[in-house]
Amino acid sequence: MRSVIDIMDLSLEEIDGLLNTAEDIIANPKKYADACRGKKLATLFFEPSTRTRLSFEAAMYELGGNVIGFSEASSSSSAKGESISDTARTISCYADIIAMRHPKEGAPYVASLKATVPVINAGDGGHNHPTQTLADLLTIKREKGRFDSLTIGLCGDLKFGRTVHSLISAMSRYSNVRFVMISPDELKIPDYVKQNVLIPKGIEYKEVKSLEEAMPELDILYMTRVQKERFFNEADYIRLKDTYILTPEKLSGAKDDLCIMHPLPRVNEISVAVDDDKRACYFKQVLNGKYMRMALILKLLEVEV
Ligand code: NCD
Repeated sequence: MRSVIDIMDLSLEEIDGLLNTAEDIIANPKKYADACRGKKLATLFFEPSTRTRLSFEAAMYELGGNVIGFSEASSSSSAKGESISDTARTISCYADIIAMRHPKEGAPYVASLKATVPVINAGDGGHNHPTQTLADLLTIKREKGRFDSLTIGLCGDLKFGRTVHSLISAMSRYSNVRFVMISPDELKIPDYVKQNVLIPKGIEYKEVKSLEEAMPELDILYMTRVQKERFFNEADYIRLKDTYILTPEKLSGAKDDLCIMHPLPRVNEISVAVDDDKRACYFKQVLNGKYMRMALILKLLEVEV
């Protein structure tokens, strides 16, 4: 029984295996239509979600399985004071696999200690979001054809943006990857990411404020939303929320084969005028997320197709 709490819980070989499975699902969807017949996924979402929850659900249905769960904490017994551990033990009696999103960092990890079925972290506070990273990796593979020798611009809320933290960990395992971190001072990448990942692995990175200046050297531009729900003070959020807005004009200095990514939801960070640019990949990312979640469910349930 295997849980995925952090993207580093998966080895590079396992990530390659998931990418291959996802590409096979894309090529031969019918082959997988009954793979999880009789199995149940529980989606325990203590925080809002559109893509992550619904793509997990769509993934399980496309594998022929079923889904149970809740989409807000207020409709579960956590509103009565039940602990994460007790919820995890209880749900293990009903479901074969759990996807959990929670506002507290570490909550899915705590759940995995008491659950008797695999737990997948579907986002824990401002910490990690491994399945978004799986979506991001398939997008990078399909759009760029490689993981090595890429300059990746990460722009926006690098402090609270959990997708960024997981993506840095994942990409730091490939060679000759450079990061350009574009953010205001208040939203810089947390120290623990530098100390635990970037510095020990000797990864080249720089921290800058100007998106336009960084643009020409980027192979990938990963935009993020300022994470309103993690701010203590609304005035700070209002001051920082529109620091970066990607427009067609700002792309004038960009490479022709830039890949523009965003985990979504978008608020204001990318003007809708960018959506028609051939370099905009954020809706492809959404679809890739479903295929990677299908691959991950198959792996953790040890289903052979
Ligand atoms: C992200 C998240 O929840 O961290 N969304 C997602 O799962 N695709 C990004 C965000 O909410 O800004």
